[in-house]
Amino acid sequence: MPKNILITGGAGFIGSHLVRRFGTKYPNYHIVNLDNLTYAGNLENLSDIEKAPNYTFVKGDICDRALLLSLFDEHQFDTVLHCAAESHVDRSIKDPMAFIHTNVLGTANLLQVAKERWEKDYSDKLFYHISTDEVYGSLGDDGMFTEMTPYDPRSPYSASKASSDHLVRAFYHTYHLPIKISNCSNNYGPFHFPEKLIPLCINNIIHRKPLPIYGKGENVRDWLFVEDHVSAIDVIVHKGKIGETYNIGGHNEWKNIDLIRVICRIMDRKLDRPQGDSEQLITFVTDRAGHDLRYAIDATKLKEDLGWVPSLQFEEGIEKTIDWYLANGDWLQKVTSGAYTHYYDSYYGRGN
Ligand code: NAD
Ligand code: DAU
Repeated sequence: MPKNILITGGAGFIGSHLVRRFGTKYPNYHIVNLDNLTYAGNLENLSDIEKAPNYTFVKGDICDRALLLSLFDEHQFDTVLHCAAESHVDRSIKDPMAFIHTNVLGTANLLQVAKERWEKDYSDKLFYHISTDEVYGSLGDDGMFTEMTPYDPRSPYSASKASSDHLVRAFYHTYHLPIKISNCSNNYGPFHFPEKLIPLCINNIIHRKPLPIYGKGENVRDWLFVEDHVSAIDVIVHKGKIGETYNIGGHNEWKNIDLIRVICRIMDRKLDRPQGDSEQLITFVTDRAGHDLRYAIDATKLKEDLGWVPSLQFEEGIEKTIDWYLANGDWLQKVTSGAYTHYYDSYYGRGN
């Protein structure tokens, strides 16, 4: 049973759901959230839990070895849930080095510190690496990614995540560091940063701005509600086997264009606009460079070995998500205006 957990990247989209789940479901676990608050990290994602007695926030970089060593000594972590990453494919095409820095070097740094602090006694320790289905590459019309699918990353983002997965496995095989890895499909839900397809389109529909669809909108993604992702992580932490990899997904494939049309229809209904109104905002734009055609996860291992299945149907999850964005216009306004990053700069000081 974990007692002292380091969650990295806990102020981001998935990380904030992870902090909330572990912090509230397990009040006897102490959670330290280490996040350097990039543009994607937002402490408002955690305002409901920030005062919990079993929760501590530390602003810092996973590449900072001295900081990690002191945190391991101070908090005696037995578990690391490593979620921090640069996560947006389009940004990785513009600036790959930021992805190498955090996703590759940051992960290597964290692994090395965990090894140094734990190697005298690996019992009851766990280094859990949160990864993506994008490491497997791109599918054609058929087939699904299993845990045995060879890696074939094709963007700087997915290559950096594949590198980090390889490093995590290397530390297991070479040093016996107790690790687990999960590779999940596309998440959606509350607190999703509006640079990603679903929240971007929700925000643009609200403001009647164009909905930019790359290429012909034929690319397929397999969408999972974010709380189902963290419920799977919870199950794997507690019941999964050391050294194993688990794929997480919801058997919920959508072509981008079909997905956006569904969102348009729901939003027209909720915003009391004539049906077909928001679809007029759809604008086909230049395709993403190296755009992976299709992702689809086979999560049979997770279901058969650990009994996990998603709790929500997509229809319910997307309604919940849209309702959340409509009810949280302030959050959306602040993250799109960048007001929260200016606040962090003044609160923590630039470069901290
Ligand atoms: P996100 O971009 O919303 O959040 C990333 C968080 O990491 C932010 O809070 C950011 O401030 C923090 N961070 C970045 N660099 C850091 C550094 N050097 N030191 C400390 N903190 C740092 O990302 P997300 O979408 O929540 O993804 C979280 C993890 O899940 C990533 O590892 C990603 O690869 C993986 N993943 C994401 C999805 C998805 O659909 N979003 C699906 C599968 C896997
Ligand atoms: O599969 C898991 C991955 O899902 C995670 O590892 C990544 O961190 C996460 O960002 C996500 O990557 P994608 O590239 O699939 O997500 P994104 O929301 O950026 O794009 C989803 C699809 O929509 C993709 O085919 C590109 C397309 N798209 C995206 C944007 C932002 C558009 O057509 N228009 C857009 O404006």
